Amino acid sequence: MKTEVVRCGSATERQRAVAASVRLLQEGAAVALPTETVYGLAADAFNSEAVLKIFEAKERPRFDPLIVHLPGPDWLTRIAAIEDVNGALIMALARRFWPGPLTLIIPRTSIVPDVVTAGLDTVAVRISAHPVFAEILRSFGGPLAAPSANRFGRISPTAAAHVAAELDGRIPLIVDAGPTTHGLESTIVAVQNGAIEVLRPGPITMEQLREFGDVRSALPAARLVAPGQLPSHYAPRTRLMVIDDLHSFHAPAGEQVGALNWRGGEPERFAAMRTLSAAGDLREAAANLFRCLRELDDAGVDLIVAESVPETGLGSAIMDRLRRAAAAS
Ligand code: TXA
Ligand code: MG
Repeated sequence: MKTEVVRCGSATERQRAVAASVRLLQEGAAVALPTETVYGLAADAFNSEAVLKIFEAKERPRFDPLIVHLPGPDWLTRIAAIEDVNGALIMALARRFWPGPLTLIIPRTSIVPDVVTAGLDTVAVRISAHPVFAEILRSFGGPLAAPSANRFGRISPTAAAHVAAELDGRIPLIVDAGPTTHGLESTIVAVQNGAIEVLRPGPITMEQLREFGDVRSALPAARLVAPGQLPSHYAPRTRLMVIDDLHSFHAPAGEQVGALNWRGGEPERFAAMRTLSAAGDLREAAANLFRCLRELDDAGVDLIVAESVPETGLGSAIMDRLRRAAAAS
């Protein structure tokens, strides 16, 4: 299959990208689209055959459920059953953070095909804030299932070129709207007994969620409910180690080392180095993280060492991704 990349620089290009995407989605294809977090691989959530194409292109095991992206909040009650005790909190979170990088795990209705939820009785939903993704959803007129547009277990794509590197020849279309804003996948939460359980830390921080009630990180056992939360995610091909700081790190003899530097001031003494944010800004660091990891992975080094970032705010999500990358390598 030939993969076409369509840019959305001008208004005309954007119209063309939206029209081409909607046509392909209606035909039951899976297409790569930009969201505000990472690029997604989208298909009609109500068309099981179309959804299966996502699993095929990604080589994703069928037991790993997908996120359903809604065209608008009115869709929530059609997809999910929210009349239980946790409904008020779920609605409050949706009102505050949608459209945006928050995914809610909610008991599902029977309208959602089993293949989307991997047979679970819950469904993951969010509403994206990306203008192009939102326009495609509105024009398509129904929910889209869309996981990150990478092959299973690999680093999520934050630019169209990353999607091409992962899925070229496997999908008909990639819509290129430039690098994504957040650079990390959405925060995933479940609401249980009136408390917020974070299954995947992300751009909506623990601190932000705490305004709405008790917040806890899901225990590793609970994370097994979400197979995609297994530690073997975000894997570069190169071995990766998380260290406290680069300053006191000395490369093992004979090893070419690539360094992921948290902020400025580190001398160029590595075979390759990328800096997350010269200014020490966690938002900028998050936006750069996956691109930097990809570039270091492509640099032909024996080992990547990643410096720890402060674990506050977005730093928790960055450290989560780095630890998973290290666990997988
Ligand atoms: O920002 C994002 O969330 C991106 C963009 C494209 O929306 N999507 C994304 O999807 O990261 P994915 O499939 O790469 O990650 C979704 C995670 C998976 O780990 C999956 O296991 C989990 O959500 N998940 C999906 N449905 C679930 C459910 N019902 N219960 C628990 N976890 C679920
Ligand atoms: Mg993913």
